[in-house]
Amino acid sequence: MSSAARRVVILGATSAIAAAAARLWAKDGARLVLVGRKAERLKAIADDVTARGAGAAKVVVLDCATADAEAELTSIADGLGGLDIVLIAYGVLGDPRTLETSPEAAADLLRCNFTSAAAWCLAAARILEMQRAGTLLVIGSVAGDRGRRSNYVYGASKAGLGVLVQGLAHRLAGTGARTVLIKPGFVDTPMTAHITGWGPLWASPERLGAIIVRAGERGGPVVYAPWFWRPILLAARLLPAALFHRTRL
Ligand SMILES: NC(=O)c1ccc[n+]([C@@H]2O[C@H](COP(=O)([O-])OP(=O)(O)OC[C@H]3O[C@@H](n4cnc5c(N)ncnc54)[C@H](OP(=O)(O)O)[C@@H]3O)[C@@H](O)[C@H]2O)c1
Repeated sequence: MSSAARRVVILGATSAIAAAAARLWAKDGARLVLVGRKAERLKAIADDVTARGAGAAKVVVLDCATADAEAELTSIADGLGGLDIVLIAYGVLGDPRTLETSPEAAADLLRCNFTSAAAWCLAAARILEMQRAGTLLVIGSVAGDRGRRSNYVYGASKAGLGVLVQGLAHRLAGTGARTVLIKPGFVDTPMTAHITGWGPLWASPERLGAIIVRAGERGGPVVYAPWFWRPILLAARLLPAALFHRTRL
C-alpha cells in the first residue's frame, strides 16, 4: 500500500530519525503534522519536507512531555479528518551518572520517555480503535531488552514503554488498527553524538527512517532496527547473570 495522502502525525519531529522518516513520507505524498518544542527547527524541517512532497507540512509547537496528549491529538486528528500514522519519536538519553544520583533527573527522564509517551500512545490507540484503522509507531530501544549498568534508567523507561505498546498491539488485534514498537540499536544522531567508536553496528537516521516507514505499512508488532539486533538481544537476554555481570556493558 502506498502512503499517498496518508495523514501522518510525528511527535518529536525534530529527532534526526523522525525527520528522515518524514522526508520519505512526504516524498510519497503524505500529509504531515510535525509536533515538537523547537519552533524554528520544526519550521526548517517542515519547509524541507514540503519541498519534497505534495502538500504543506503543518507544525504544532508544544512540549510532548507536558502537553495534554488526549486533547492535542484529538485536535490534530480533527484537523486532518482522521489519522493513518502516529509516530512517537521523542525521547531523552540523559547522563547515566546524573540519573543514578539525582532522583529529580531520573523522574524527569521517566516522565518524558515513559509517562508522557504512554499518554500519547493511549490517546492514539483510542482514536485508531474508533477508526478501526491506522498505525501507531513507537520508538523504543534495544536498551529496554536487558538492564545494564551503563544506561538502565533510560533502558527502564523504554522497557516500560515497550510493554505498554505490546499490550496495545494485543488490544487492537483484529480491529484493523495496529501498533509497532521499533527498537533501534546504535543510530548516528545528535542523541549519540558524544559516543565514540562507531562500528558496523551503527546505522544512519536514513536507514532507520526507511525501516519506520516500512513498519507503517506492514510487519511488527516488534521491529528491531536494523534486523540484526534481534539475535544480538536474544543472546543478551539469555546470557546468565553470572556471566553478564562480568561484562562492563
Ligand atoms: N540514536 C540512537 O542510537 C537511538 C537508539 C535507540 C533508540 N533511540 C530513540 O530514538 C528516538 C529518536 O532519537 P534520535 O536518535 O533521533 O535523537 P535526536 O535527534 O536527539 O532526537 C530526540 C528528539 O526528542 C525530542 N524531545 C525530547 N524531549 C522532548 C519533549 N519533551 N517534547 C518534544 N520533543 C522532545 C528532541 O527535541 P528537541 O530538539 O526539542 O530537544 C529531539 O528532537 C528517541 O526516542 C530515542 O530514545 C535512539
